[in-house]
Amino acid sequence: MKQIIIINGPNLNLLGERDPDLYGRMTLEEINQACKKRAEENQFQCDSFQFNSEVEIINTIQSNGKCDGIVINPAAFTHTSVAIRDAIDAIEAPVIEVHLSNIYQREEFRHVSYTAPVCIGQISGLGWQGYLLAIDYLTRLS
Ligand code: DQA
Repeated sequence: MKQIIIINGPNLNLLGERDPDLYGRMTLEEINQACKKRAEENQFQCDSFQFNSEVEIINTIQSNGKCDGIVINPAAFTHTSVAIRDAIDAIEAPVIEVHLSNIYQREEFRHVSYTAPVCIGQISGLGWQGYLLAIDYLTRLS
């Protein structure tokens, strides 16, 4: 079966209680379930990961480098991490960056994404549905 991997970065384990006006009221577990359902409807397997550390994100990107697609929300590392960018750039799998909030409507330091230039594209500001749209795209790609 073809496989999609979802990777969520730091503090996204707090979804549901963390600033719901910005990030919505769905928990990460609920978003992961919705992703799994959407992927399976398209005959794809879907595994979700959340890490607060950069190292684990990089290791997971590397170890899934040949899967059929990765959806990543690098969270705060979006705006700082050359290392995550290089990991994405080094693998074969197509990667889509997702943000729940519209990072371009927020503080200026969030307007820069180190990771988006090495992804196929970026979805920002569509809440949890952004993950489903990314899955839809990846399942039609391969
Ligand atoms: C975020 C946006 C980032 O700027 C922030 O650091 C996050 C979440 C989003 O999904 O909107 O943690 O990636």
